[in-house]
Amino acid sequence: MDQKRMMDVFHFYQWRILCFTLLLYTVDGQIRYTIPEELKEGSVVGNIAKDLGFGLSDISDRRLRIASDTGKQYFHIDLGRGELTVHERIDRETLCSQTVPCLLPIEVIAENPLQLYRIEIEIQDVNDNSPTFQSHERILNIPENVNPGAKFPLDKAEDPDVASNSLRSYSLSNNDNFKLNVKNQDGKKIPELVLDKYLDREKQAVHKLILTAVDGGNPVKTGTSEIVITVLDINDNSPQFEKSFYEGSIDENTTPGTEVIRVKAIDLDEGLNGEVEYFYGEQSTDATRELFDINLETGVISVKGQLDHEKSNLHTFDILAKDKGSPRMEGHCSVKIKITDVNDNAPEIVITSLTSPIPENSPVGTVVALISAKDADSGENGKVKVEVASNSPFKLNHSLSNHYMLVTNAHIDREVHSQYDIQLNAVDLGSPPLSTKKTISISISDTNDNPPVFTQKSYVVYVKENCPPGSMLSSVSAQDPDVEKNAQISYSILGSTSQEFPVSSYVYINSDNGSIFSMHSFDYEKIKVFQFLVQAKDQGTPSLSSNATVHVFILDQNDNVPAVIYPSLAMGSVSHQRMPRSAKMGHLVTKVTAVDADSGHNAWISYRLAEATDSSLFAVNLYTGEVRTKRSVSEQDDASQRLLIEIKDNGEPVQSTTVTVDILIEDGLHEPISDFRQKATERDKKNSKLTFYLILALASVSMLSLLTFFILLIKCARGTRGSPSCCLRRNSDGYKNPNRNLQIQLNTDGPIKYVEVLGGDMMSQSQSFGSYLSPMSEFSDLTLVKPSSTLDFKDTLRGLDASLPDSAWTFECQQVSTIFSKHRTVHIFTQYVVCGLLTVVATFK
Ligand SMILES: *[C@@H]1O[C@H](CO)[C@@H](O)[C@H](O)[C@H]1NC(C)=O
Ligand SMILES: *[C@@H]1O[C@H](CO)[C@@H](O)[C@H](O)[C@H]1NC(C)=O
Repeated sequence: MDQKRMMDVFHFYQWRILCFTLLLYTVDGQIRYTIPEELKEGSVVGNIAKDLGFGLSDISDRRLRIASDTGKQYFHIDLGRGELTVHERIDRETLCSQTVPCLLPIEVIAENPLQLYRIEIEIQDVNDNSPTFQSHERILNIPENVNPGAKFPLDKAEDPDVASNSLRSYSLSNNDNFKLNVKNQDGKKIPELVLDKYLDREKQAVHKLILTAVDGGNPVKTGTSEIVITVLDINDNSPQFEKSFYEGSIDENTTPGTEVIRVKAIDLDEGLNGEVEYFYGEQSTDATRELFDINLETGVISVKGQLDHEKSNLHTFDILAKDKGSPRMEGHCSVKIKITDVNDNAPEIVITSLTSPIPENSPVGTVVALISAKDADSGENGKVKVEVASNSPFKLNHSLSNHYMLVTNAHIDREVHSQYDIQLNAVDLGSPPLSTKKTISISISDTNDNPPVFTQKSYVVYVKENCPPGSMLSSVSAQDPDVEKNAQISYSILGSTSQEFPVSSYVYINSDNGSIFSMHSFDYEKIKVFQFLVQAKDQGTPSLSSNATVHVFILDQNDNVPAVIYPSLAMGSVSHQRMPRSAKMGHLVTKVTAVDADSGHNAWISYRLAEATDSSLFAVNLYTGEVRTKRSVSEQDDASQRLLIEIKDNGEPVQSTTVTVDILIEDGLHEPISDFRQKATERDKKNSKLTFYLILALASVSMLSLLTFFILLIKCARGTRGSPSCCLRRNSDGYKNPNRNLQIQLNTDGPIKYVEVLGGDMMSQSQSFGSYLSPMSEFSDLTLVKPSSTLDFKDTLRGLDASLPDSAWTFECQQVSTIFSKHRTVHIFTQYVVCGLLTVVATFK
């Protein structure tokens, strides 16, 4: 500053040297001084005394002074030298403003004599003022879309200096967009700003320019003003997304409200023009709009609805970003959201076809059902495994993907399980896995695979003899585990185990309930036991059956009165016996022999002396029936004695009979011992004779049989073509051994000895020819004890019976022809011969 000041002073003195004494005389002779403004106080303007014509001595005498009516005393007269000096700073701009020339009149007064002088002082301009702007800053707001060429007036600068020192030009600082234009208006220079190039707020929002005003002084002085141009925003930018494509993925079970992705668009504009809002693009479907929500302001895309991978696994849509300018500008982006699968669907079991019921005899591998499994999930979550409980007789065969066949894996028995509830379990491979259970019911239909089974393998029935026909003997029953027709049982009698016994004429079975009824009353004495097969048969197709044996045992009832064999009462009701009067005590008078057709207790016979002429003389042995003397017979005893002997069995009720024995005591009779012996030898002879004849008879029979056999054989061999069956059947009868049916049995137990000629099998028991030998009887007794017979031969025997000593004897021969077939003629024949021979033997006796 000091330096500048110094320069100013230097300039000033230069100026003073040049112009200081510029003395002008005006036309009217007035004195005019010209001085620059702003002279220093004390600077000499001119020697006024000299110029007015005063001498040096006059100056003080005349008392020169400056008359001033105004307060300001710019000048002073130095009375010593007579010089006019600057008393006060003179500012031309203050005194004259823009008036040129700037004249300052002063009056100088001189006394002695008083004289008034007019002096003009011209104040010359000095460039002491810089151009100035009214304000240092000018603010302009220009929209960015204003076209180039637009003009904006600026403030003009003022410079109080005049002439060349006044304002000369303007200049503008360097910039890209604006030019300066200066126009002249009433001689004044007015600057204006001209837009040269388009503005871009986004490039430069504020421009700061310096406008400089320059004057014409030397040196020049300048003034500046700042122009601040704010570029006003125009919505000339659309929002731009950061990415044109956004991709996101989210699990399908995401809860609504969860953020998926965030899109962001930027708008370079400012204010509303730069505020962005987000919207769905117009093509977005309603489904998408329901599932996702876009935050208008933040661009956050969030889940709104219930996502379902199975419905749609990918959502693609556009998003618009719009600013709030006018008009609204918009930008686009596309969004792809993948819905990832979550194992949220349990597998489903579908029974495509089901066969129920299935028959129980279905072979292993029979297809029962077709099953398929579904799972709406994808990937592993959608893979399904179906299993069946391992303990059931079914298994699953995997056929195509997710298709299964349920087949039988084992033999199925309805009687064990009539119904199966098969539990299927489907599990997917997701994590965690989901599963579904399903039960299918399969019923098993019955097949007739079980025969009826009797509750017992064999039944034993005890029947009292003489039971009335039609009484129920027993009941058999069988069970069949099958159902319905397959379990409907009907009972029947198959027949006897031995073909000879016509069991169907003896018993009858109720086919519905298996009750067995008798058709006859049974006689123990004729048949003691028989057996037959019963069959239980179901109604299935084919039907099944099983057999059981029923053994019927006839229980003996005491229905037979003891029969007196000896003494025979055939001749009358009384038996006559003789004994010597010389008989001693213990003399065997006679022996009563009785038989009881019953058996067991019912046949235990006891003898009792019921009445006697002289009960002191005779006694009867309880068991043997021997009648003996209790004492020696005396002369006084009556010659004729009568005994009534009661014979009882041991049955319940007791059956009894009596026999009356008349005893004639004879005087002339010898001791009976020798007689007895003789009789015994006689009987031995008779017996040996009998045995001889018997052997002879058997030999003859054998011969005859053989002969007949050969004759028949030849006959059959000849007539083979005519009737081949005759030989074959004979063979099938097992007739090879004709002696099979002829057995001779000698029993010696009990008081009675007997010989039985037995048939070969059990049935033949009843056909036995029995020979009872009474050891103590005087006769050899041959008894043929037979069951009832219808044989004609019986009549013959009856005739024979009449000729025998005692009428109690029965000769019976089984009618065999009804049982034996015609092919057993030989057998019959043989029997006839035997019967005949026996008759001969009896006659011979
Ligand atoms: C079987 O049926 C007959 C005739 O209806 C009846 O008499 C009998 O008592 C029945 N038997 C059983 C064991 O019910
Ligand atoms: C039952 O007996 C009959 C006749 O003897 C026979 O044919 C059948 O095979 C027997 N059935 C069974 C199951 O034993």
